[in-house]
Amino acid sequence: MQSIKTQRIPNSQIRLMLDAAGKMEREGKEVIHLEIGRPDFDTPAHVVEAAIAALRAGKHHYCPNAGIPELRRAIVSRYADDYRLAYDPDSGVVVTNGVAEAVYLSMNAHLNPGDQILIPDPGWLNYAVDAVCSYAEPVSYTLSAANGYQPDVEEIAGKITPRTRMIMLVSPSNPVGSATRPPLLEGIAELALKHDLIVVSDEIYEKIIYPPARHASIACLPGMKDRTLLLNGFSKFWSMTGWRLGYALGPADLIEPMLRYHLYMLTSVATFPQYGALEALQGDQKPSIAMVHEFRRRRDFMAPAVNRIPGFSCLIPDGAFYLFVDARPAGLDGYELANLLLAEAGVVTVAGECFGKNGAGHIRLALTCSLEKLQKAVASMDRVMRARMAAARG
Ligand SMILES: Cc1ncc(COP(=O)(O)O)c(C=O)c1O
Repeated sequence: MQSIKTQRIPNSQIRLMLDAAGKMEREGKEVIHLEIGRPDFDTPAHVVEAAIAALRAGKHHYCPNAGIPELRRAIVSRYADDYRLAYDPDSGVVVTNGVAEAVYLSMNAHLNPGDQILIPDPGWLNYAVDAVCSYAEPVSYTLSAANGYQPDVEEIAGKITPRTRMIMLVSPSNPVGSATRPPLLEGIAELALKHDLIVVSDEIYEKIIYPPARHASIACLPGMKDRTLLLNGFSKFWSMTGWRLGYALGPADLIEPMLRYHLYMLTSVATFPQYGALEALQGDQKPSIAMVHEFRRRRDFMAPAVNRIPGFSCLIPDGAFYLFVDARPAGLDGYELANLLLAEAGVVTVAGECFGKNGAGHIRLALTCSLEKLQKAVASMDRVMRARMAAARG
């Protein structure tokens, strides 16, 4: 019998869609995958070589629970250089199994049953599920297209209760791609200080951002470094999703309980991949920068093209590599629409409902395939939506 907690953990809709897509592919039908939240580029070769060299050099053994000291020092030093944020490599950083684990630890090490955590809606689905895993109550705040998918500080203020303990931020966002404007970060920081909240800031898409948008971290604001857990990782900018490497930075009193949790869950992350991550931070950045340029090219093609499809509209994202498409005029929920697009256009998408109730009637498209495939996907979705909208008009 599964536990009551586990009963509240939803199945992955992405998995169900992939199963359906796999069946079509086995039947010989062409399917375009716009559901995958991972860059379609390989990890840069010099990063791979560094991990291989580490294995050859005998890095086969346990490492310190918080991660190899060289990597912790390199992470801390890049935050000192890039953001003038000073973290202690011995007590202020833990290397985790991706940002996924860092989110889980942030909540499970700091929330008590009944505590409330404010999470963005739409937002990455793990936030709500991890809150449930820590017996806390997720309370959503709205990101709406009308507001450029920016948090509304007044709305957040209105949702704070004596039970609110934590607020989750993500910038640039998955699924909506917005980068939070600095004045709004200031407003949220004021609330966090006033109500003594811990801020968890997921900055995994920090470096996948398109000027004029610029990344800003709430940890840089006065008084905030001591109450912020800054999460980042290697999955996206260096296309290292399968390496499972991320980290949490923060003051020692917030990091230490997370490290204890991590110790009993995983001991540490694997040793040799961390040498690859070290090279990712310190080596040639050109392959990653070229990848970001390619994502921008795809965004610049895809956002206007999607906006020309009947029934579809989306904002132009500041960062990450997703389009969040409002398809409510089609009169279907996101699941129905994702199924229709798979069956009739051969395009795999994710229902917006997976990211919270504000995602109803939306779909997320990941720009993680070639421009040629994106062009094909647009043509197929356009055909299906023209028919759908004609039918909806009766
Ligand atoms: C906003 C956000 N945070 C965290 C993650 C997880 O990243 P990692 O591979 O480091 O666990 C993802 C992955 O899609 C994401 O979109």
